[in-house]
Amino acid sequence: MIIIRPEQPRDEEVLFQMYRRAGGRLHEARLLDTLRENRRLFLSLAAWQENQAVGGVAFSPASLIPPMPELILVALAPLAVLPAQRRQGIGSTLVRLGLQRCRERQVDGVVVVGDPDWWGKFGFVAAAAYNWRGELSIPAPFWLVQELQPDALPKTPSTIVLAPELQEFLAARQEVLIPPADPGPVRREP
Ligand SMILES: CC(C)(COP(=O)(O)OP(=O)(O)OC[C@H]1O[C@@H](n2cnc3c(N)ncnc32)[C@H](O)[C@@H]1OP(=O)(O)O)[C@@H](O)C(=O)NCCC(=O)NCCS
Repeated sequence: MIIIRPEQPRDEEVLFQMYRRAGGRLHEARLLDTLRENRRLFLSLAAWQENQAVGGVAFSPASLIPPMPELILVALAPLAVLPAQRRQGIGSTLVRLGLQRCRERQVDGVVVVGDPDWWGKFGFVAAAAYNWRGELSIPAPFWLVQELQPDALPKTPSTIVLAPELQEFLAARQEVLIPPADPGPVRREP
């Protein structure tokens, strides 16, 4: 049985190791830790199976420029499930439950940077549909947003501002998100 619950202080080390194993690198684990240390962890849910942490999802505050002080915006990252436990619906359940908790906490919208096809299944659409763009040089189609309250998101041309920790994380893994450029036809030496 899978149990999903908000992280607790005693989970911190276990979650660090889980994210490290799930991501294959330190990035995701460090992202969660630095968000927490800098008090920018809006929500962190962990999935448990037989007392083992098998997955997690986290959210941190985000904002827009020009500022919209009334708007409550968060960004989703990291999301990870241990390799052995993938393809059982744990990742999807974490995302859906995380979005539900955010909605209950009056969040107006959630931003994510990733594959539009994958995230589209959860209701994310191009941020460009709201005239929003990201700060990093990640192409526009990877910037996604989901409205959580009716007509809550403005369509004013805006720049999305992420937590600095998340910004750093994304800058470090841009090459993973962006497909390599088409090298064009192979030229043969005569
Ligand atoms: C992305 C990730 C969290 C998915 O976790 P999961 O528990 O396997 O997800 P689910 O079982 O709920 O699958 C969700 C959907 O993704 C699909 N999927 C899962 N892994 C996939 C893969 N490697 N390639 C293509 N599709 C995949 C599933 O088929 C499913 O689609 P469906 O709903 O149409 O059947 C997991 O693969 C992971 O931890 N990856 C490494 C970290 C990462 O990339 N995180 C996301 C960005 S921060």
